[in-house]
Amino acid sequence: MAPRPQHDLVVIGAGPGGYVAAIRAAQLGLNVACVEREPVLGGTCLRVGCIPSKALLESSELYASCRGGLEAHGIRLGAVTLDLPAMLRRKDETVSGLTRGIDGLFRKHRITRYTGQARIAGPRQVTVESEKETVGVTARRILIATGSASAALPGVALDGDRIGTSTEALSYPDVPEHLVVIGAGYIGLELGSVWRRLGARVTVVEYLDRILPGVDAEIAAEARRSFERQGLEFHLGTGVTGARVEGDRCVVECGDAKPLHGDRVLVAVGRRPMTEGLGLDAVGITLDAQGRIPVDERFATGADSVFAIGDVIRGPMLAHKAQEEGIACVETLAGGAGHVNYDAIPSVVYTAPEIASVGRSEDELQRADVEYRRGVFPFAANGRARALGHPEGRVKVLADKKTDRVLGVHIIGPRAGDLIAEATAAMEFGASSEDIARTCHAHPTLAEALREAALAVDGRAIHV
Ligand code: NAI
Repeated sequence: MAPRPQHDLVVIGAGPGGYVAAIRAAQLGLNVACVEREPVLGGTCLRVGCIPSKALLESSELYASCRGGLEAHGIRLGAVTLDLPAMLRRKDETVSGLTRGIDGLFRKHRITRYTGQARIAGPRQVTVESEKETVGVTARRILIATGSASAALPGVALDGDRIGTSTEALSYPDVPEHLVVIGAGYIGLELGSVWRRLGARVTVVEYLDRILPGVDAEIAAEARRSFERQGLEFHLGTGVTGARVEGDRCVVECGDAKPLHGDRVLVAVGRRPMTEGLGLDAVGITLDAQGRIPVDERFATGADSVFAIGDVIRGPMLAHKAQEEGIACVETLAGGAGHVNYDAIPSVVYTAPEIASVGRSEDELQRADVEYRRGVFPFAANGRARALGHPEGRVKVLADKKTDRVLGVHIIGPRAGDLIAEATAAMEFGASSEDIARTCHAHPTLAEALREAALAVDGRAIHV
């Protein structure tokens, strides 16, 4: 008889998908191990993604407000100077505080931690290789949560310094004179905003004729106008075909268009699932055309006892989507009824103004020939937004024409990322626009703009 496996579950990867799955599995009474090759827990999101970028977005926005924008509040400052090392230190401290927090959670839940590169050696077997040693780990189930890495661009050789990814752009030692950003997606716009606010000239080159693919087109167009007012320069409909360092400058080739010259280049053209070295062939897993691990609705890969969640499988590459999947997967494994509602996964771009959405965009509904009604409410007519001094943007509610069920909510404006939570909860409960419209909202709050947009679906908005 085969020896009893050491663990009930081994999770490969300690990003938001993996560490949350490990904690939930431990809560459910499983004996859990987690393999992570980095010395700190938290994955891309905590170490070099969501958290450090949000720390810099916050600091740079404060800096920009102090440089101009507080006068209207009657606040005059003397000379405002930038202490970039201190700003970067604060970002690093934010990250280390949170990663230490996950260490503590792992200890609390008695999760066994292995540090090294995990490879699936066969059914229920994983080897963990580090500089020191190679250890074998056995578990009844294996959960792959290895996330994603920045996608490469043909002709663009990353040098880990001047031509780099978001990882380098989170730690430039000084403010670039001219930063060329390749890709007007989430990363390009968030980090482009950071360095623009800190004083860089920022040019964003985007292959498509619009920014933020996937975001509702009307909202993305409004975002573009706002970013242009902040000084971001866009070269749309321009595909980058190469980039190289020449002396102390970088040259970015743009096909037939004129090349661009800058002192730093940020490549932000998407991410690819991270599956190398995992030994997937040992258990017969074949990747799909996009390099993702195919899974069924229970996150089973088809290989005996191997499951996968997060950026390595289909769906948006978002930390909270991975967390939902991790929880649902282990709850199902433990005999429960895990569930992810893919129609109600919010997404947020943390620029200023913030952009947030949940459900389907207006363009998607039109393409799918769905009959809908729309209600739009501008923050300019919201008392709280005016008092805050951020009257920019709008809320858009899209509801089914016949049933009035909410199909999508799109927000551009102050605290959009927080406001979208109410819309997400409403959609999770299958709300109609009438439900939101009849819900009492505190006054004066930004959330009233959502209610007004819901009222506007039926032509009943009060303040426009
Ligand atoms: P993205 O997919 O959001 O945007 C990449 C952009 O690059 C697209 O607009 C694409 O058309 C453009 N592009 C591709 N090839 C090009 C070329 N040769 N020349 C010019 N433009 C080109 O990818 P991004 O910004 O790298 O982010 C990766 C992932 O990380 C996203 O899918 C997102 O899910 C996640 N993320 C989420 C954040 C959030 O939730 N706030 C923040 C940062 C990243």
